[in-house]
Amino acid sequence: PRPKGKAARGLRFTPVAPNTADTVTVPAGYSQNVVLRWGEPILRGAPAFDADRQTAAAQAGQFGYNNDFLALLPLPGERGRQVLVANHEYTDEVLMFRGYDAADPTREQVEIAWAAHGLSAVVVEENKKNGALTVVPRHHLNRRVTATTGFRLTGPAAGSDLLKTSADPTGRKVLGTLNNCSGGTTPWGTTLHGEENFNQYFANAGRATDKRYGIGTGASERKWERFDKRFDVAQEPNEVHRFGYVVELDPYDPSSAPRKHTALGRFKHEGATVRLTHDGRPVVYSGDDERFDYFYKFVGSKRMKHGSGRAVREHNLSLLDEGTLYVARLTGDSPALEIDGTGKLPADGEFDGGGEWIALVTATAKGDVSHVEGMTADEVCVFTRLAGDKVGATKMDRPEDIEPNPHSGKVYVALTNNTNRGVGTNAPADEANPRNANKHGHILELTERWNRADSTKFAWTLFLVAGDPEDPATYFAGFPKEAVSPISCPDNVAFDPHGNLWISTDGNQLGSHDGLFGVATRGERRGELKQFLTVPTGAETCGPLVQDRRVLVAVQHPGEISGATVEKPASTWPDGPGKIVRPAVVAVWRRDGSDIGV
Ligand code: FEO
Ligand code: CA
Ligand code: CA
Ligand code: CA
Repeated sequence: PRPKGKAARGLRFTPVAPNTADTVTVPAGYSQNVVLRWGEPILRGAPAFDADRQTAAAQAGQFGYNNDFLALLPLPGERGRQVLVANHEYTDEVLMFRGYDAADPTREQVEIAWAAHGLSAVVVEENKKNGALTVVPRHHLNRRVTATTGFRLTGPAAGSDLLKTSADPTGRKVLGTLNNCSGGTTPWGTTLHGEENFNQYFANAGRATDKRYGIGTGASERKWERFDKRFDVAQEPNEVHRFGYVVELDPYDPSSAPRKHTALGRFKHEGATVRLTHDGRPVVYSGDDERFDYFYKFVGSKRMKHGSGRAVREHNLSLLDEGTLYVARLTGDSPALEIDGTGKLPADGEFDGGGEWIALVTATAKGDVSHVEGMTADEVCVFTRLAGDKVGATKMDRPEDIEPNPHSGKVYVALTNNTNRGVGTNAPADEANPRNANKHGHILELTERWNRADSTKFAWTLFLVAGDPEDPATYFAGFPKEAVSPISCPDNVAFDPHGNLWISTDGNQLGSHDGLFGVATRGERRGELKQFLTVPTGAETCGPLVQDRRVLVAVQHPGEISGATVEKPASTWPDGPGKIVRPAVVAVWRRDGSDIGV
C-alpha cells in the first residue's frame, strides 16, 4: 500500500503532469528565469547576438550552442556569485542558419560551428530580490573553450605514435574538444567533461578500430573535412585518436590549457564523476553511451591535496594521470530462464546480482602496464572499447550518466534505452538489462564491496525500470506504482542536498516532453518518483543541478524535430513567436524563497 504522510524531504512539491507545452513547466509555487542563451556575449568585446549576422569571431566570445552538463563552483570573495561551467555538446546547423544547405556549408558557417562547440565558464550572480540567477559578462574568469582551443594530452598514450599527427609530431598537443556531453565536478575544484559522439565529425575512415567507434567511411554530416584536413581520416589518420577522452578544465585559471586524460580511456564518454577513497584518492566513473557498450571506473593512486596554492593545484591536476582503469562485468543471481525479456520480475523479486571491476591498464610514473593480452598500454588507452571486448565486459543498454550518491556512496547508472536488445542476432535480455527492445531504459544501483570506492567487487540491483507505471514491465524500487510519475529514457543523474536522486530524460517515448524528476533512494519513500519540470518541444533536459534553494537545467536542442528549420521552427522557446529557438540554461526556485521541496 501507498505509505501515508509526506514525501521525502526535498521532494515535497506537486508533481508536474506530463505535457507537450513549448515551454519549461515548473510546480505550483515555483518561479524560473532564463539564465543564459546561446549567443549571449560573455567575453569582453563580444557583440550582442544577431542570428542573421552571426560570425565565428562573435561566437567565440558568446555562449555556445546546445548546453549540456552544468557545474557551479564557489567564488570566494565575491558575495552571491558562483562560476557556472557548461558543455556545448554539438551544433544544429538547420536551426542556427537561415537557408542552411547541408550539402554545401560555407566556411563561415563551419567556423561558427567550431566556435559554438566546447565549453563556457561564466560568472553568475544571484538576484537577492527575486531569486533569479544572472550573468556577469566580461568577468575575468569568463572563458570560452572551442573546437580550436589548445589542449594538453596526458597519461599513458600522450606522446605515443598513435597520437602523432603532421601538425603535432609530439603527440601531446591537440586543438579543441568535441561533443562534450555530461561531466562532473572534482573535489579539487576542477570540472570534467566527457567527449561523447566524436565519431560524427570525422570522414573517410576505414580501419577496424574506426569501425568499432562508429567513425564513417564517407563524408561527415557537417563536411568539416573540406575546411580542415584533420577531420579527414584518410589524410590525417591519428587525429581521430585524439578525441573521445575525459577533459579536465581549471575554471579558476582561464589561461591554462585544458587536459585530455588518456588514462581514463577513449570511448564515447557520457560524463565522468568523482568519489574519493577513504585515503583521498580519486575514483572516476564513466559510461560509454552506445547500445551494448560498457561502463568503467578509474582508481587513482595519488592522494588529493588540500589548499589553493599553485603547487597544490598542479599536484591535483595530475591526479588522473596515475592509476588503474577498470571495466564492469555483471552477473545476475536469478536463473537465466526467469529473465524472459518482458521485464517480469524473477522469483526472488529483484533484478540483482554481483559484479567485478576488471583491470585494463595501470598508469604509473615509472611506466604503464597493460592487463589485456595482446594490447599495449597505449593501445588500451586509445582503443579502450576493444580492450573491453577482449576481457568480456558486460554489454549494457546505453550507459549514460553514472554518479555516486555523496550521502551513501551507492553509485547510480542511467541506462537510457536499447531498442536493439534481443532483436535479431543482438544479445538478448539478461538480469542487468532485462527487457528486449528496451525503449524506456532503467537505472542500476551499484554498491561497492565494503562501500569502498576502490573495491574490485560490487553488488547491484535495478533501482528503477522506466516506463508508464501502468505498464507491468516497470519497477520503482518496490514503491506502489499508482503513486509515481511516468518516466522514459533516463539520461543525466544528480543528487540534492538530502541525498535524493534527480533524473533528467532524453527522448521520452510516452508521448510527452522530456523532463526532470526526483526520487527518494532511502527509507519508506524509496522509489517515490515525482516529476519536477518539463522542457519545450524537441528539447532534452540536461545538466541538472539541485542546490538547497535552486534547480538549474540546461534545455538542450529545443526545436530539434525532424524537418524543422529556422524558417519552419518546431519551437520558438525561449523568446516566443518570430524569434529563433535558442538552447538556454534555466534556473528554478521557490517563490517564497524557502528550500526546494521541503
Ligand atoms: Fe550526449 Fe549520451 O548523451
Ligand atoms: Ca535476482
Ligand atoms: Ca546525455
Ligand atoms: Ca542523451
